[in-house]
Amino acid sequence: MSKDKLIIFDTTLRDGEQSPGASMTREEKVRIAKMLEKMRVDVIEAGFAIASVGDFEAVRAVANAVKDSTICSLARAVDTDIDRAAEALKGANSSRIHTFIATSPIHMQYKLKMQPDKVLEQAVRAVKRARNYTDNVEFSLEDGSRSEFDFMCRITEAAIAAGATTINVPDTVGYGEPAEYGAMFRRLMEAVPNSDKAVFSTHCHNDLGLAVANSLSAVMNGVRQIECTINGLGERAGNASLEEVVMAVRTRKDIFPVETGIVSEHIVPTSRLVSSITGFPVQPNKAIVGANAFAHESGIHQDGVLKHRETYEIMRAEDVGWNTNKIVLGKHSGRAAVKARFEALGISFDTQDALNQAFARFKDLADKKHEIFDEDLHALVSSKGSESFEEVYLLVDMEVCSKTGVKPVAELTLQVKGEDVTAKADGSGPVDAAYKAIESVVNSRADLLLYSVNAITQGTDSQGEVTVRLERNGHIVNGIGSDTDIVAASVKAYLHALNILESPKSRSHPQRDGV
Ligand code: KIV
Ligand code: ZN
Repeated sequence: MSKDKLIIFDTTLRDGEQSPGASMTREEKVRIAKMLEKMRVDVIEAGFAIASVGDFEAVRAVANAVKDSTICSLARAVDTDIDRAAEALKGANSSRIHTFIATSPIHMQYKLKMQPDKVLEQAVRAVKRARNYTDNVEFSLEDGSRSEFDFMCRITEAAIAAGATTINVPDTVGYGEPAEYGAMFRRLMEAVPNSDKAVFSTHCHNDLGLAVANSLSAVMNGVRQIECTINGLGERAGNASLEEVVMAVRTRKDIFPVETGIVSEHIVPTSRLVSSITGFPVQPNKAIVGANAFAHESGIHQDGVLKHRETYEIMRAEDVGWNTNKIVLGKHSGRAAVKARFEALGISFDTQDALNQAFARFKDLADKKHEIFDEDLHALVSSKGSESFEEVYLLVDMEVCSKTGVKPVAELTLQVKGEDVTAKADGSGPVDAAYKAIESVVNSRADLLLYSVNAITQGTDSQGEVTVRLERNGHIVNGIGSDTDIVAASVKAYLHALNILESPKSRSHPQRDGV
């Protein structure tokens, strides 16, 4: 039986970036986009071009760097947004403008303060304007799952007549329930006379943990595009996770009438890359990409798997890329081998100098650690390299004393705007002491929202990767640091977050302010 193509639309770089603290630099977005391209994602939503100069530049950089996937920018249903999106997408081989406006009574009344007829008029105008730039236009009915059915039909029909080629009905607030959300699509497609002229799409948030179930139910009811993110990253509880929808469709090919073009072997490396760039660890029991996803603990399960793998495994770990994590590098590895491994992981260097710096950090690490894993390489570049912010605070030197029965003391020398400053403090532990010493110099007035340490690989010589989330005046940033010494990793992460906080390029998303 021939199957329909299910379009995979990845919005890690746009909705994923709307997770508090998950902002990415332009270079990081390009790295992720290239991995998504390698994975054969059909559409990459690279950002929201009007949101800031940084977002515009990121969409433009992704559009120029990626050739095999369609590159998309989000735009509110207003002329300025659409023009800006089109400008950012100019270099793309294939581009899409994704315009949206809220259609639910609650959003129209309280957020937009607009009558439905006016909303419909604005939607049509936006789609027509976008069509002047590209024949690939997506229209989203924001808060679609809570919209009135008759109005949804009217605005969908009008948007298609105006030239929209994809109609997306998001479950913006994660309120949908699978049977109801799926049936809504079937009804909508049956009721709208020109529905055969557009692809229908889902975009589900995970507030009730139903994002993947809702997306798949929509597919069973005729939807042929899923919007999703790596590791389920996204606003609040996140979006439907790409790896879960792709592997569900593939593993249950007996029931799903669709297939994706995704090269699943790139899933785990991409998940690692996104996790290390955003500082959002993947929970061990996360489906597909969690460390325990293919681990069998109980004796009965182990015995079964050894006798016949399918007794307890419905997918092969290597099919989603678990086996690509081979030990390949160590102290004696040369520059060419290190560069080649970086490239295989989607990490390239624009200048010889950037490669030299990464290689020097590799050598430093190889002196401390016997085997260098892919995760170590990701960590080496995740909080370093060509950042698009200035490093106001740098660690020069650090001494930490920790002894049973004695309060730990940290003494640090920081370079602050080019000047060396020394500070000393005690604390309830060595990390607390080090952070207090930093604060005595920096006085950031930021609140520490999250501090987490993860072993990047196995063994006691593993690097610890520390994520620190800071908030100041409603502005949230994540800092990441890695080192075989976890106090040093903690200090690096804290300084990384402080440097981002000081960056004038930090911004918020206008989507939150409505149209
Ligand atoms: O959740 C949502 O409704 C969105 C739209 C802008 C597509 O992200
Ligand atoms: Zn969303």
